Amino acid sequence: MGRNPWFETVAEAQRRAKKHLPSNVYDALVAGSERGRTIDDNLGAFAELGFAPRVAGHHAKRDLTTTVLGVETSMPVVISPTGVQAVDPDGEVAVARAAANRNVIMGLSSFASKPVEEVTAANSNTFYQMYWTGSREDMSQRMERARTAGAKALIATLDWSFSNGRDWGSPEVPEAINFKTAVKLAPNVITRPRWLWSFVRSGRIPDLTTPNLQPPGGKAPTFFGAYYEWMQTPPPTWDDVKWMREEWGGPFLLKGVSRVDDARRAVDAGVSAISVSNHGGNNLDTTPATIRILPSIVEAVGDDIEVLLDGGIRRGGDVAKALALGARAVMIGRAYLWGLGANGQAGVENVLDLMRGGLDSAVLGLGRSSIRELCPDDLVIPDGFTRTLGAAG
Ligand SMILES: Cc1cc2nc3c(=O)[nH]c(=O)nc-3n(C[C@H](O)[C@H](O)[C@H](O)COP(=O)(O)O)c2cc1C
Repeated sequence: MGRNPWFETVAEAQRRAKKHLPSNVYDALVAGSERGRTIDDNLGAFAELGFAPRVAGHHAKRDLTTTVLGVETSMPVVISPTGVQAVDPDGEVAVARAAANRNVIMGLSSFASKPVEEVTAANSNTFYQMYWTGSREDMSQRMERARTAGAKALIATLDWSFSNGRDWGSPEVPEAINFKTAVKLAPNVITRPRWLWSFVRSGRIPDLTTPNLQPPGGKAPTFFGAYYEWMQTPPPTWDDVKWMREEWGGPFLLKGVSRVDDARRAVDAGVSAISVSNHGGNNLDTTPATIRILPSIVEAVGDDIEVLLDGGIRRGGDVAKALALGARAVMIGRAYLWGLGANGQAGVENVLDLMRGGLDSAVLGLGRSSIRELCPDDLVIPDGFTRTLGAAG
């Protein structure tokens, strides 16, 4: 009899993903930049925060539901967009189905391997993510496509500076999967028969194109082709952010905010929400953990817009801590990617169930009846824990 595919923590999902995936695919999910300090801090800072539980007077029923950008969700956990391919044959559609089954919002990257139409069909609560890449005309056309497909909000991710190089080495990712690259990557893949079989069974090969960046009547660019276009695009100004928000015309989340002055400018640009984010430690290494900078940003703009957080969430208790420090909801990245790598769609559902269970335990133990009651008094916050970036600006 095979091993029970259910896993009890995200750490176990990661171990299984490491065993199951070819090493270059696994390493692409680890990602990070330079020394990896920001990744470590994103994770470590949650462990530094303690809980202050109550002993009696707990609530038999606890409300974990909320809304994010006007969309109802069964808990304050959103799937963060990730442009990683080749983890699972169904890729983002598997993630979208898992999120739909758990009544959770799906964030879809424009660098994803599945078309937005397939993803919104699997989960009607999909937010579509874009970078600032290509001409305004290209971007308008991509927005129009996502809107027509039924995306309920736009996520503009702007914290990217093309930093490259990792002290632990970067995985080799081919331009496209063809006979030549297949032979080259064979030693990586041959040791992972179950992963290989999942693709053979689906009749597909790992897709390294970006169908959502396909121009009308043209071909979908490869991942590297899309990356090249992005590198060649002049970086956006705050007026460009305003243009993007107006062009989209609906709920708009700016992802990647670290500084208080940027948060204020985002409010001025008319965004509906921000995510305090450092791209999961993939942008400028040594940027502090998002949970350290959340309180200062919530204080500055929390009454004006919704403030989300992403980076380092690996358990439901982390979600409770972020909410106690003022986040409306969190977005998760690697946590669900590990679930997907370990056990496909069911693995993502498993991760979402772990998030829900852990959050519910925290709300119970803290003597709260709803996530809305979580507050800093529920936590033990070490001296010098928080950081404020750009408050003078
Ligand atoms: C492999 C990988 C690919 C990512 N791709 C994207 C992307 O295409 N668009 C985006 O907005 N963020 C992307 N991110 C960032 C995530 O959306 C999110 O901000 C980050 O993973 C949160 O940190 P966590 O992994 O610790 O949860 C990516 C992250 C990883 C790890």
